[in-house]
Amino acid sequence: MVHKRVRTAVFPVAGLGTRFLPATKAMPKEMLTVVDRPLIQYAVDEAREAGIEHFVFVTGRNKGVIEDHFDRQFELETTLEARGKVEALAELRMDLPSAGRTSFTRQQEPLGLGHAVWCARDIVGDQPFALLLPDMLFRSEPGVLKQMIETYEETGGNLVAVEEVPPEDVSSYGIVARGEGPDEGFRITQMVEKPKPEDAPSNLIISGRYILQPEIFNLLAEQTKGAGGEIQLTDAMQTLMRSQTFIGVKYRGQSFDCGAKIGFLTANVVYALDREDIRDGFLAELHKLGVGREIN
Ligand code: G1P
Repeated sequence: MVHKRVRTAVFPVAGLGTRFLPATKAMPKEMLTVVDRPLIQYAVDEAREAGIEHFVFVTGRNKGVIEDHFDRQFELETTLEARGKVEALAELRMDLPSAGRTSFTRQQEPLGLGHAVWCARDIVGDQPFALLLPDMLFRSEPGVLKQMIETYEETGGNLVAVEEVPPEDVSSYGIVARGEGPDEGFRITQMVEKPKPEDAPSNLIISGRYILQPEIFNLLAEQTKGAGGEIQLTDAMQTLMRSQTFIGVKYRGQSFDCGAKIGFLTANVVYALDREDIRDGFLAELHKLGVGREIN
């Protein structure tokens, strides 16, 4: 069966980033860099690799720089050109979605992830869409969204990327219960947002990548406040599960929760060591300081 193609992705980027203050006082947390790319760029790259054509950002106050980041910067481009920095210029241009392929809307009040997604309803319209939470960074080949699209082409419906965490961490995430099917696509039988460890149906967390059907928007419109006093996407998905299928994809790869300091710092080290142009110099500096001698 051919399922309606997923062409649009939503990026909720309105969060206040309180865990990174004071860095995020005047700068959006999505612009924090892992090596030399802002977090939001990694999420957009992942979406493009998966065939996404339209990028919808749900922003808020103090987030204007995200819009600038996905625009041409003529002064910079002219200077790079004049200095013959051909490669840097080509890379900058490659990072940009093409003209007319980005949309920006605002979540006016911080009412939760479910409300942020609902703010994108008019732009998305009546089609399935991908949802990427840029805090979660994935080191995987191919990207997690691409792995999900491969499953979606078989199953259709709604999909959620999942991974296992230690049982004591379940209360920081949405948790799914696993039904029948293989790792690449199993039935989800229940979802609960930030349960107490003793109430969690498993240790499989919702990892911040989704493919959703547009019927979710009507449910989000009626959704009352859930965990943490916020309008939760997980609660609306649990309701949609009564009439539509939800498939879990246990993706192949590693994740870094860059919404927390340890995940963010680890990502910076791992991504730096992954880079051919940085690895040797970085290791040499660490070794000089007596750190990381066992890495070579
Ligand atoms: C959100 C979702 C949660 C998911 C998490 C992944 O929570 O509500 O279900 O597991 O993202 O990062 P938040 O991190 O916004 O509290």
